Amino acid sequence: MMTEKVTLNADVVLDALKDIRDRELEKSIVELGMIQQVELADKAVRVTVAVTMAGCPYRDELKEEVRAALLKIPGIDVAKVIITTMTSEQRARIFGNAPSEMEGMKDVKNVVAVASGKGGVGKSTVSVNLAVTLAAKGFKTGILDADMHGPDIPMMMGTAERPLGSRGMLLPLERYGVKLMSTATLAGDGTPVIWRGPLINKAIKEFLGHVDWGELDYLVVDLPPGTGDAPLTVASTIRIKGVIVVTTPQKVALEDVRRSIALFKTHDVPVAGIVENMSYLKLPGSDNEILEIFGSGGGEKIAKAFRLPLLGKIPLDPSIREGGDSGRPVTLDRDSEAARVFDKITENFLEWADRQH
Ligand SMILES: Nc1ncnc2c1ncn2[C@@H]1O[C@H](COP(=O)(O)OP(=O)(O)OP(=O)(O)O)[C@@H](O)[C@H]1O
Ligand SMILES: [Mg+2]
Repeated sequence: MMTEKVTLNADVVLDALKDIRDRELEKSIVELGMIQQVELADKAVRVTVAVTMAGCPYRDELKEEVRAALLKIPGIDVAKVIITTMTSEQRARIFGNAPSEMEGMKDVKNVVAVASGKGGVGKSTVSVNLAVTLAAKGFKTGILDADMHGPDIPMMMGTAERPLGSRGMLLPLERYGVKLMSTATLAGDGTPVIWRGPLINKAIKEFLGHVDWGELDYLVVDLPPGTGDAPLTVASTIRIKGVIVVTTPQKVALEDVRRSIALFKTHDVPVAGIVENMSYLKLPGSDNEILEIFGSGGGEKIAKAFRLPLLGKIPLDPSIREGGDSGRPVTLDRDSEAARVFDKITENFLEWADRQH
């Protein structure tokens, strides 16, 4: 007796995938044209699926579902699924009129970016507490973690939730009255991502354009540290009202600040001022005795040299670190010493912003 032999071809593969639906659009991924390539070789199949946006929250789930369906095809032993992102034209076909590049930012009034020439100086701490303070002052506020090398903002804001997608856009989470989105979403499963130059540009632009912030008075952006491409890519993709440069008073940190300021100035990104972090230590049991561990006057000198405001000095304070570690920013406690320090910084920034027509 002869057994019927099914010839494996792309149609058989597509048929096996036709009942898989896109979570957001609730339509067959085959009908939506998300299957971009089917490659068959002997008992192996490789399928490329294009999701609607970089950072699609369902990409891992979808990958697994497609793989499982492929392995059910008689004669297939090995299945590989590659997930890519649709081009703007492909998206336009699906959504009718696709969101324009910065669609999600159209109702964001002001972007304030937080930068530092070097890592570990407290950039994320400043970003988070600035955002919480702005929200406490009644501004509609969001925070974007654009530091894809070390996305710490979700942890500092006490959330590990994944954002949801809607019609090709990502919806920010909300914590303590602040809208929140992180490039950690782009990394997917939490494995560290090594971003390469051209890739980072493309991914970050794509990502930034597809976060639906809604109406915001202020969007605080935690930029990647350093004085190279990474912070500039982000800074040049979104229209920034002002950059706040964070430093510590050590000599090395101050050198990096000089370079950082020079970089933004060269590229016409306005610098609002400097924040000196870990400036001093309040001596226990004393009201006004302070210890300037790293020396004094560094922030003032830099500010003067670049004719920039020194927006404030933040003391080394265990409650600031605890706030970050516990996911409950210290400034939520409106009566704390730290809240007073951040209030002053925020007011100084707002005054600067007011002066910029
Ligand atoms: N003023 C402060 N007092 C006490 N601890 C602080 C202060 N500022 C920051 N820290 C702590 O120092 C560490 C580094 O701060 P943070 O993560 O904000 O720096 P960063 O510049 O964003 O670093 P990275 O480059 O790794 O992103 C954190 O543990 C934070 O809680
Ligand atoms: Mg950080």
